[in-house]
Amino acid sequence: MATIGNSELDIFPLALGGNTLGWTADEATSFAILDAFMAAGGNFVDSADSYSAFAPGNSGGESETVLGNWKASRGIGDEMLVATKVGHHPEFTGLSPQNVAAAADASLKRLQSDHIDLYFAHSDDPETPLDETAAAFDALVRSGKVRYIGLSNYSPGRVAEWLAIADENGFARPVSLQPHYNLVHRAEYERGYAPLVAEHNLGVLPYYGLAAGFLTGKYRTSADFEAGIRGRMASQYFSDSGLAVVDALAELATIHAVEIPTVALGWLLHRPGVVAPIASVSRIEQLPALLDSTRLVLSDLETDRLTSLSNTIDA
Ligand SMILES: NC(=O)c1ccc[n+]([C@@H]2O[C@H](COP(=O)([O-])OP(=O)(O)OC[C@H]3O[C@@H](n4cnc5c(N)ncnc54)[C@H](OP(=O)(O)O)[C@@H]3O)[C@@H](O)[C@H]2O)c1
Repeated sequence: MATIGNSELDIFPLALGGNTLGWTADEATSFAILDAFMAAGGNFVDSADSYSAFAPGNSGGESETVLGNWKASRGIGDEMLVATKVGHHPEFTGLSPQNVAAAADASLKRLQSDHIDLYFAHSDDPETPLDETAAAFDALVRSGKVRYIGLSNYSPGRVAEWLAIADENGFARPVSLQPHYNLVHRAEYERGYAPLVAEHNLGVLPYYGLAAGFLTGKYRTSADFEAGIRGRMASQYFSDSGLAVVDALAELATIHAVEIPTVALGWLLHRPGVVAPIASVSRIEQLPALLDSTRLVLSDLETDRLTSLSNTIDA
């Protein structure tokens, strides 16, 4: 277990990605995934009010609704901590104060809860002055509807700006960052965010821990990306150097008698600032490989091999 930055949120070292809930996993499958995750010690799910508006036929809120139904049906409270996000729901786009307040209420209703443990601004809203957005998040903390604030997809400069506004105004400070970070997408986090993370003790929950499935090893040729709903997302990582990383992961997986995604997440978990990678599954059979990452011990030599192999990707 590890604490998210300057918060009291103590979490299992794997966060369950919630975008599949009600999307590639129907409600029954989602319940089974959540049950198994919790039984293995998992206690933190990452959702967003917009999941999964991007899927044909969905309108947003499906993930929170499934999560709320699961918690209610099992009588679960704070044993499963919930992060969700605001800014991308089709009915609540952007981060104006009115929008943030209304979207939070809509999320709480779907989650069947009176509080959100960690509330992320999903991405920067250049149309709204940052001090107004920061004040709106602070108001949610003061009202008890939100316990802690997190930022996702903000540039490092804007993260610093939000922190300065919070300090100047006595607002609740963001405690967490949710950046895009994995073995084949490193430069943005390591060059841009890592210094801020260290300076402000921000707890990092990287998303796309498995590069949308590319780092599971199931995409080896361009034809592989055509099968399945997620192929297009995973194809952005396809390159010779990306495949070399997957080959190295496969070798290490054999040595440790684990699966390829286990090694990918095991590497990520031990990067500076990372509290828990976020990764999702669409089927219950995929979960054990992710859970194993929390127990995997790579030698320094093995870690260095992965780090140097992936050093030049997206450099
Ligand atoms: N803040 C943001 O802007 C943002 C953006 C994206 C994601 N996120 C968060 O990060 C989470 C993770 O992102 P993600 O779900 O898009 O990508 P991911 O975790 O990198 O990839 C997960 C996908 O890989 C496949 N997979 C997982 N385990 C596997 C296994 N053992 N064997 C084979 N395939 C396996 C599954 O997809 P298939 O079975 O469908 O192939 C699964 O949905 C999301 O749920 C969300 O909470 C946040």
